[in-house]
Amino acid sequence: MYKLIDGKVMSSTMRWIIAQGVNGYKDKYKRDVGLVVVMVGDNPASAIYVRNKIKACEEVGIKSYSYHLPEETEQAQLENLINDLAVDNNVDGILVQLPLPKHIDAENVLKLIPAKKDVDGFSSENVGKLCLGEEGIVACTPNGIMKMLEHYGIETAGKRAVVVGRSNIVGKPMAMLLLNADATVTVCHSKTKNLKEECLNADILVAAIGKPKYITEDMVKQGAVVIDVGMNRDENGKLCGDVDFEKVKDKCSYITPVPGGVGPMTITMLMYNTLQAAVNGEKF
Ligand code: GUN
Repeated sequence: MYKLIDGKVMSSTMRWIIAQGVNGYKDKYKRDVGLVVVMVGDNPASAIYVRNKIKACEEVGIKSYSYHLPEETEQAQLENLINDLAVDNNVDGILVQLPLPKHIDAENVLKLIPAKKDVDGFSSENVGKLCLGEEGIVACTPNGIMKMLEHYGIETAGKRAVVVGRSNIVGKPMAMLLLNADATVTVCHSKTKNLKEECLNADILVAAIGKPKYITEDMVKQGAVVIDVGMNRDENGKLCGDVDFEKVKDKCSYITPVPGGVGPMTITMLMYNTLQAAVNGEKF
């Protein structure tokens, strides 16, 4: 019988704890914790994510500043905004919602976010720290997944972990976190041969592919822990993950649902990272 990893319940407990931290910070330093969320254009999925991020800020007492710029915003305009926010003392964290419109060079925009305000953990400095096992800001989704594994007492040391997907946002940092936690890690991607065989080796399988119900029961080892990062629509327009939950669940020891699994934890870790950025800001 599988156990459900409940991201909603974990998130609400963690948000309560973060709110206490934010309150303590405000009392001590007589200032707010501030997060800026920048969105360019009208990608509907991004609009939902941004709305949920702003709602989470309200929930934990973080002051949010939202910039919604038109699709036709030029590179220089966006870069000027980020440069201003980089030196604004009211701003502890800067998040530029991805994807950006095609005419914008996202890499050059993200580079302008100082590492100490990089609450996404995307900067070379934070990624470098993660690789070296040093303390830094860690990307929200994989960091949230590690918290879920810890909370449910799921051992990683010596386990075979397979991460399907090699994005900078999820796959790569996920692999590094699992490696730092002493798992034996394989990263699979679109050019991987024998994906099914690779997945069948996994004690812990993380699916971050972006294709609805891609992981089927024949790809999952009996007793595996399955973590679903996907957020897709199925053929009926219903929200679903990268894992075919109904078919896979009975093979699992633990599995995350979609919705209510990784998603809420990602936003909670953004709140956690923003508080961490504010606290770190007081040290210098
Ligand atoms: N778009 C999808 N996921 C993310 C994320 O974690 N951070 C940012 N900035 N954009 C995203």
